[in-house]
Amino acid sequence: MSRPEHIAPPEIFYNDDEARKYTDNSRITSIQAEMAYRALELLNLSEGPKYLLDIGCGSGLSGEILEEEGHIWVGLDISSAMLDVANEREVEGDLFLQDAGQGVGFRPGVFDGCISVSVLQWLCNADKTINRPKARLQRFFSTLYASLTKGARAVFQFYPENDDQIELIIDVATRCGFEGGLLVDYPNSKKAKKYYLCLFAGQQTGIKNQMPKALGEDGDLHPDEERSIQYEKRGHQYKKKSRDRKSVKNKEWINKKKRIAREKGDKPVANDSKFTGRRRKVRF
Ligand SMILES: C[S@@+](CC[C@H](N)C(=O)[O-])C[C@H]1O[C@@H](n2cnc3c(N)ncnc32)[C@H](O)[C@@H]1O
Repeated sequence: MSRPEHIAPPEIFYNDDEARKYTDNSRITSIQAEMAYRALELLNLSEGPKYLLDIGCGSGLSGEILEEEGHIWVGLDISSAMLDVANEREVEGDLFLQDAGQGVGFRPGVFDGCISVSVLQWLCNADKTINRPKARLQRFFSTLYASLTKGARAVFQFYPENDDQIELIIDVATRCGFEGGLLVDYPNSKKAKKYYLCLFAGQQTGIKNQMPKALGEDGDLHPDEERSIQYEKRGHQYKKKSRDRKSVKNKEWINKKKRIAREKGDKPVANDSKFTGRRRKVRF
């Protein structure tokens, strides 16, 4: 399947139709919610409500998780159709129509943290040659760094296309002053594997920045995978039982059935012979 960011620029791809389809899809909403929760967890915020930024907030699925957890949020997105749906859904965040590649236009040091869910890969693709991805990433990360309080974190869940893309993103973010790196949850799972870029905007006084631990590193399975293995096991047991039942039809079993039928006497029963219950050849 081709990647959406190869099909059209984001403001074209996320048109009215796509914005509605995206938000009405229950599978998408539950995956986005799970990733938004994880990004919020990785922000490692202290107790109490915080002022957070959601980059590429779309129709507000990720922002809703922030408000559910008691935070105040501001969202920006390049697609007016996505923001229209967010407004219809009456999300609590303040919404801005803005291209993150042009830089985020907020006052310095205002946000206690930033999340971004399924967006960063879009910034690595440019529709025109004048829009160089590296320059766009540079504008984005430098202005984002400035808008965060000292020691705040920015966590990006994203779908990197290849290792070069990861290297480019980390290189640019580091040059803009961020520390941190990449965290891969459930690295051995095809379905549950998720990439999170965890960035630190400087250091809080007296606290050393430490990369958080990835989930599933020790071989633990994602809860959905555990559930599906249990289903598979149950299916296997069921199949085994039905196989066992077939093997009951041996000579002894057939003779017993015949004896019962003869005692009942309501239908003719074949005579016993040395061929009763023999293995038959498979005919093709
Ligand atoms: C997959 S959606 C994710 C939306 C939301 N974060 C969620 O979890 O539901 C990706 C969003 O990124 C936005 N986006 C892509 N490139 C962008 C850019 N340069 N600036 C701002 N938003 C962008 C798209 O418009 C789209 O709403």
